[in-house]
Amino acid sequence: MIYSKISGTGAYLPEKILTNADLEKIVNTNDQWVRERTGIEQRHISADDELCSDLGSKAAQQAIDNAGISVADIELIVVATSTPDRMFPSTACIIQSKLGAKCPAFDITAACSGFVYALSIADNYVRAGVAKNVLIIGAETYSRILNWKDRNTCVLFGDGAGAVVLKASDEPGVMSVNIGADGDHQDLLGIPWGVSQGYDALTEGSKWFDMKGNEVFKHAVKTMSAIALEVLQENGFDPHATDYWLIPHQANIRILKSTAKKMKLDQSKVIVSVDKHANTSAASIPLAMHGALETGKIKSGDLAVLEAFGGGLTWGAALVRL
Ligand code: UT7
Repeated sequence: MIYSKISGTGAYLPEKILTNADLEKIVNTNDQWVRERTGIEQRHISADDELCSDLGSKAAQQAIDNAGISVADIELIVVATSTPDRMFPSTACIIQSKLGAKCPAFDITAACSGFVYALSIADNYVRAGVAKNVLIIGAETYSRILNWKDRNTCVLFGDGAGAVVLKASDEPGVMSVNIGADGDHQDLLGIPWGVSQGYDALTEGSKWFDMKGNEVFKHAVKTMSAIALEVLQENGFDPHATDYWLIPHQANIRILKSTAKKMKLDQSKVIVSVDKHANTSAASIPLAMHGALETGKIKSGDLAVLEAFGGGLTWGAALVRL
């Protein structure tokens, strides 16, 4: 039996930091509101000439180094992003070139759930024996699509990238990954233009990222606890008698706290990094996971539930032995 296992992680956050105090000069907001309602203290913003592929390449190279392999060993690159460099070619192809890799490469779009979706794909490639080392990257440049005049949304997001190398293993690492979607709620968050709809807006610059925050919040709290419990139970673990970490998508500290409460999980077992980089969509889980591994909070051999919720609506949860 072939399983997949996370063998290396990496992260990259752009140098420029925008604090809540900095935002007070841009929109009618204040540090106290943002901290209390979201848990966010600061976000990183990429430089004008710093592309999604640059962020992703840096996180990826670190993950490859930490996995103790070379770029030549990578057999597939999957990039999760909603903010690609270009419509096409894929950001994965651009990252492949920047890294000097020689392998298939493609993007997937599942908004904030993108990393878990990418993990699901990569896990299946490894389990099927098609690839032994898959590079998964979540990379985002939300600062480019935010309406910096809209305090409801611009305070919530930041730029960044996280990456993991998933390798073939005799023992499970990734135990299972569940993903889901409900397109009936497509208008709750997203960008209302693309290629076949509202392409003119690209030049007008009049349409931006938009979110019905309150409604998304309710869906997120309900779904996040349910999918985390489900992935534990289906693998035979009693959620109330098992020692595990929760590594959730980092959107809002209140969502994380409510999720833990519903799961009857001690808050100390929830990995939180939203304070330092805000919501980085598909990058947030690998950023949080890398940080927790790097500081030694999470150790090799620990059990963790990775889970996300986002635009689509989409969601996903994975149970992994790190
Ligand atoms: O990553 C994908 C999934 N996304 C999420 O999970 C995000 C889910 N949603 C949320 O995190 C929260 O709903 C928000 C953080 C977006 C909003 O928090 P809220 O507690 O639901 O606030 P609200 O939208 O109900 O707004 C409360 C008040 C309003 O003022 P009034 O109408 O009560 O006078 C807003 O206008 O707060 C006001 N407000 C702000 N005030 C200061 C909204 N944004 C700001 C702001 N600064 N930045």
